[in-house]
Amino acid sequence: MVDVLLGLQWGDEGKGKIVDYFAKDYDLVARFQGGPNAGHTLYIGDKKVVLHQIPSGVFHANKLNLIGNGVVLDPVTLKKECETVASFGVDLKKNLFISERTHLILPTHRALDKASEVSKGNQKIGSTLKGIGPTYMDKTGRNGLRVGDLLDKNFTTSYIKLRLKHQRLLDNHAFDEDISAWEEEFFEAVEFLKELNIVNGEYFINHHISQGKRVLAEGAQGSMLDIDFGTFPFVTSSNTISAGVCSGLGVAPQKIKDVIGVTKAYCTRVGSGPFPTELEDETGEQLRKIGSEFGATTGRPRRCGWIDLVALRFACMVNGVTKIVMTKADVLDAFQELSVCTSYNLNGKETTEIPFRMDKGTIEAVYKKFAGWDKPSSEARRQLNYRKQ
Ligand code: IMO
Ligand code: MG
Repeated sequence: MVDVLLGLQWGDEGKGKIVDYFAKDYDLVARFQGGPNAGHTLYIGDKKVVLHQIPSGVFHANKLNLIGNGVVLDPVTLKKECETVASFGVDLKKNLFISERTHLILPTHRALDKASEVSKGNQKIGSTLKGIGPTYMDKTGRNGLRVGDLLDKNFTTSYIKLRLKHQRLLDNHAFDEDISAWEEEFFEAVEFLKELNIVNGEYFINHHISQGKRVLAEGAQGSMLDIDFGTFPFVTSSNTISAGVCSGLGVAPQKIKDVIGVTKAYCTRVGSGPFPTELEDETGEQLRKIGSEFGATTGRPRRCGWIDLVALRFACMVNGVTKIVMTKADVLDAFQELSVCTSYNLNGKETTEIPFRMDKGTIEAVYKKFAGWDKPSSEARRQLNYRKQ
């Protein structure tokens, strides 16, 4: 049996913290898409840890963690993460497993990401520059290298071949940064990665499922950044929605039970693209300040706005959400009045559906206003109508 936990907005909903909270109820936590563009923040005691590629269940003893085939993996970031996690006494040789089908992010993928963003000028995606887009392009273009290839004696030859191809693209972009230091780091990290548990991920996970083990699939990014259903082209390059679990782990749809959607009580977005409820004023600034809305991966200030129920309902539909977790409601404690977007005005017509285009100027959020609760929610103790299942 597999439950899925994923973000319903534009990422940064607090997925890492919630996975860490629920992990005790599961035997295995698996990442199914994305890569080091994710930044999942956990607190271990009073220490803050940001995980990018390792599943957020890793700090729980006797739980297994799998990096699935749908992920794109940067060995350099992974090595750093592993060192941080190991400094807490976690034995990664025992609890971290990596699918041999997982695609590798090469130094030239990162360079291509940067070159592509520069060439887009003010139309840039606002990518995290971690090489995500170019790596997925090489996957669907059938050129990529996978973790399993590292164990092949011809890996270096395949690497050089792909690197040459990338170099031609970089030359077209007039990209002339010296990336030799990145490559040195990469090959060092590759040696480290080869010592970790590289497994056939689909048999690994299905074996555990057939043994009655409980699996939690941990999403990265959010539904509005999904390559098919997000605000294209301002999206990431993977299927962030629940459908991505099947292709990203090799799990059949009938095995999926709950889809737990995580949403903030308001909205944020890093990077460019449509954001109908964005507040470019003092209220937005207040949300950013109280909510500490700065990117965990890039440190960029996040764009902030009121909750968007049109987008949230859409995300629940495409994911088949069965349970919702709302985070950071306490950030709203300070507001006398709260707004909630209940529909859009699209070229003069009201709609409750996500349209094909959501550009500024064509779409305007329609709000319902509510009085704030004007109390510190951290002091709330009573659980209303709470039924334990
Ligand atoms: P977590 O898992 C928020 C955004 C980037 C950019 C767009 C494409 O922490 O929620 P990419 O590097 O994927 O090519 O960038 O997607 N983005 C995220 N925004 N949280 C994330 O991950 C994100 N991962 C990518 O800012 O707009
Ligand atoms: Mg994040």
